[in-house]
Amino acid sequence: MTQNLFQPIAVGPFDLPHRVVMAPLTRSRAGQPGDVPTGLNIEYYRQRASAALIITEATQISRQGQGYAWTPGIYSQAQVDAWRQVADAVHDADGLIFMQLWHVGRVSHPSFQPDGALPVAPSALPVPGRTFIVDANGEGTWGEIPVPQELTIQGIQAIVEDYRQAARKALQAGMDGVEIHAGNGYLIDQFINSQSNQRQDAYGGDYRNRARLLLEVVEAVVEEVGAERVGVRLTPMGRFMGMGDDTPEATFGYIVEALNRYGLAYLHLVEPMMVGTVKDEQVDPRWDLIIGQLREAWSGVLILAGGYDAQTAETALANGRADLIAFGRPFIANPDLPRRLREGLPLNLPDAASFFGGDHRGYTDYPLHG
Ligand code: FNR
Repeated sequence: MTQNLFQPIAVGPFDLPHRVVMAPLTRSRAGQPGDVPTGLNIEYYRQRASAALIITEATQISRQGQGYAWTPGIYSQAQVDAWRQVADAVHDADGLIFMQLWHVGRVSHPSFQPDGALPVAPSALPVPGRTFIVDANGEGTWGEIPVPQELTIQGIQAIVEDYRQAARKALQAGMDGVEIHAGNGYLIDQFINSQSNQRQDAYGGDYRNRARLLLEVVEAVVEEVGAERVGVRLTPMGRFMGMGDDTPEATFGYIVEALNRYGLAYLHLVEPMMVGTVKDEQVDPRWDLIIGQLREAWSGVLILAGGYDAQTAETALANGRADLIAFGRPFIANPDLPRRLREGLPLNLPDAASFFGGDHRGYTDYPLHG
């Protein structure tokens, strides 16, 4: 039974026919040069337009905001023009699409940065992780992340402006709205978490200061496109790329209360149920409690993601834990996922080897149910 999953719901100015959202999914197949969506990318999104809402793959707001090979951007005119074709294809199939806006901060490599500069971060601390770069032969390979440079106040202000411009361009490209990526250990999350932020100025120290960048970005983007077209994605208790916070209840509680003021389209939280990718011992036992607390504190529409299937999604909606459920890997493998969930049809399994980079294989060739 999936009766709750297939109830309509209003999100901002949009009437969604059901609650099955396509989670943002980096697939590293943007056209080169220029990190521009291609015909293949258009086809991929068109195939998945039966989602109640598509959230695009994370899309860098500037060159400085890029950290992995072949991810698309939303700063050049060519990118705007190409994304326009994605949005048109989704709309022609009666879909709804928000673009996820991304700045990776320190999770980058000089090869992506303007003038080969060091990547930027709240603090110049070593980063536990690697990123995917392009080698001299144009092949993808893992690269070490250098110790980043600490952002100046001026540098932070420039990034807030880049978010504003990117939101404007996303709407110019025909997107219905934008999602601010504030999780997964990328720039905004690096400011939020005490472990990655040792600043002594207005952007560090107290959790109110650590949340300042997020709130300034939200404010700028809301000014640009209107709150009802803006969502925010957070990963409280996430450990990816060296995240960790001394007071997560207070930090994320404060953030959610602060976000309540804007009347955003939605809040999107990720639970650490990344089956097969996060080891149990890395999951903080407090996350379940925190998600519940944030649910209580948040006054708007809530999307949850992370390891859901038809049954657990249905239960989460029935219990009021969430209003919509975003599916990641199931949507990679099942372009017609809403229909399969509604009719109880079997699911194709995702092929992890083709998640990042490559061609149509493992991308647009997953079959529809007959
Ligand atoms: C992701 N995820 C992710 N999250 C995000 O906010 N922006 C992104 O671009 C990506 N990219 C991405 C790529 C791939 C291949 C995977 C598997 C995951 C996380 C994703 O949105 C989702 O939260 C997780 O996959 C958990 O949901 P599922 O897959 O268990 O339904």
